[in-house]
Amino acid sequence: LANGLGLTPQMGWNSWNHFNCKVDEKVIKETADALVSTGLAKLGYIYVNIDDCWAEMHRDAKGNLLPKNSTFPSGIKALVDYVHSKGLKLGIYSDAGQFTCSKTMPGSLGHEEQDAKTFASWGIDYLKYDNCYNDGTKPTVRYPIMTRALTKAGRPIFFSLCEWGDLHPALWGFKVGNSWRTTNDISDNWNSMLSIIDLNEEYADLARPGGWNDPDMLEVGNGGMKNNEYIAHFSLWAISKAPLLLGCDVRNLTKETFNIISNQEVIAVNQDSLGIQAKKVRMEGNSEIWAGPLSGNKVALVLLNRATVPHSITGNWDDIGIPENSAVKARDVWEHKTLETIFVGNLTANVEPHSCKMFVLKPIA
Ligand code: DGJ
Repeated sequence: LANGLGLTPQMGWNSWNHFNCKVDEKVIKETADALVSTGLAKLGYIYVNIDDCWAEMHRDAKGNLLPKNSTFPSGIKALVDYVHSKGLKLGIYSDAGQFTCSKTMPGSLGHEEQDAKTFASWGIDYLKYDNCYNDGTKPTVRYPIMTRALTKAGRPIFFSLCEWGDLHPALWGFKVGNSWRTTNDISDNWNSMLSIIDLNEEYADLARPGGWNDPDMLEVGNGGMKNNEYIAHFSLWAISKAPLLLGCDVRNLTKETFNIISNQEVIAVNQDSLGIQAKKVRMEGNSEIWAGPLSGNKVALVLLNRATVPHSITGNWDDIGIPENSAVKARDVWEHKTLETIFVGNLTANVEPHSCKMFVLKPIA
């Protein structure tokens, strides 16, 4: 969407994966505090996004959305001011239907202009727009109404389409929003994570600055996967130019979780100015090679072992998109080491079960 936002994939946090409906203004404020005190905000995690369940079931006499009194007693405007005072941005959530998916609050269908105005007047920076309880009309009809309403409201608001891919939002999303979901909801396990990033990969050509494929929010730190699996999860999201929206409780990060989500070299791959989504360029059974170009003539590479036994995996220049005779220096972005070997033609690494190796390759000749 040409609203000047999303020139690189959005980074921040969203309440849903960890808190579901148990979100309140205390959680939001403490999360904003934690993003700043941990240094994550400085690394780019700037959006603090409230998901479902923040409003009363009934609108006020004028038809305006009402923050839920039991959980957001100070109102959203006060929360926006607090989050802004920390140098962060606040995101909110609604739905292109009669209710949101939780059915605890109204959706914005038929109230698009009014709700967009409300969000803008509160100083909201981001809107995630879900698809539950809709009237059966096409999302290509309902979503652009909110796009126009946001434009008309006059405040730049990042617009995140949450239509789960039923009508292939990747095919129409670029003109409507800054990102679009490509899959159903992620679950905090290895198989779900892989199935989602596989599906998301099919739309790689459609992502570009201003509009990104969204394979759903991160589960890193929520406890359902092993550390090596979370490293693979974060690596695949980064190289796929996916939104990096943390989905854990950032107030209580383990050292392992922090080390993953704060890896600046991996974040830099995600935030690279070229904005080209990596592709799966070769599969051999459970061994996969994912690669995509970066600015400065570099290439990002993930060697993924989906198996339960170790594998030696080789990435060939031919598949990766590097001229056959090029000599290449390889930076291991998880080990934070530039390998001494100069690679010509290919690079081979041993990869542990349910793990990946991630490199930034730079041709030197
Ligand atoms: C479905 C979405 O896909 C989820 O990310 C989350 O927003 C829930 N709805 C909230 O009900």
